[in-house]
Amino acid sequence: MPVTALVSAKSCGVTASALALTLASRRPSLLAECDPAGGTIRAGYLQGQVTAGYGLYHLAAAERTSTDALANAFASHLWPMDGAGHRKLLAGLTDPAQAAALVRTWPALSEVLHVLADEAGYDVLIDAGRLALSSGRLHTTLSPAPLIHQADLVLLVVRGTEQSLTLARHVIDPLCSELEESGTGADALGLLLIEDGPYRAHQVAEALKTPVLAALPWDPDTANYLTSGGRPPRGVGRGPLLRHARTATEQFEAVASRRSIQQQYPPRPVSPHLAGVLRRLDEGRGGSRG
Ligand SMILES: Nc1ncnc2c1ncn2[C@@H]1O[C@H](COP(=O)(O)OP(=O)(O)O)[C@@H](O)[C@H]1O
Ligand SMILES: [Mg+2]
Repeated sequence: MPVTALVSAKSCGVTASALALTLASRRPSLLAECDPAGGTIRAGYLQGQVTAGYGLYHLAAAERTSTDALANAFASHLWPMDGAGHRKLLAGLTDPAQAAALVRTWPALSEVLHVLADEAGYDVLIDAGRLALSSGRLHTTLSPAPLIHQADLVLLVVRGTEQSLTLARHVIDPLCSELEESGTGADALGLLLIEDGPYRAHQVAEALKTPVLAALPWDPDTANYLTSGGRPPRGVGRGPLLRHARTATEQFEAVASRRSIQQQYPPRPVSPHLAGVLRRLDEGRGGSRG
């Protein structure tokens, strides 16, 4: 299954969309909340259930110890978002000042996420937050650049509004060059359209010269629940946002598998230490709190 990174030019629905895709996927799924500006899911959707003792920040210290320690920490820092533990969260940073410590952790974390996607069939979604560029390149501390480079798909989340398109226009070229030079190619980039505003998918694709890989409806009730938590709206699972998110995950899977066939990637070699992450997840350490 693909590793899909979601980014934006300016806050417009990355976290709500990533959560919707994770909750709606038909497959086991994992959301890695890797926005260097800090995570919002603990205090929002999960309403403080995940303490600061869990999450992304703890992987930095583990990675400095060994790859094996990182694999161990990864498995034990996942938070189950459902009773069966099929949907897992790696909760984000509680303080943006922690981001600097993650710079050397991103490449190893990227490998772990690919192991989960390639070997265990997880749909892996990465909330990579707002893109931070510096001299036309991804900023090394303010963007999780290695995760974006290595993702099978990079989704720039946009709304169909003039404001959103105006800002998105400026990040497309640098992002394409970056994916061409340091990633798996510029064709990893696609748009995820949030249907707010007058512009339809074909107009957005034309304006930004980038394909719209999926669209999510404007659904304030569900989005608000995903952003702030609390009582779910009635029939949330069958509501417009999660229904379309389910279809979107299928569309991403189809695009990513087409890409991988065209590119004929050599299979990624999996370090034996990282392969152990799957065993640890099977042992249920990551799913014992559901
Ligand atoms: N599909 C949607 N329909 C309606 N509102 C949305 C949708 N997606 C996001 N929002 C709203 O947009 C705001 C920003 O969402 P969020 O996911 O936190 O953005 P980001 O992670 O890009 O900063 C929130 O108020 C959220 O409820
Ligand atoms: Mg966010």
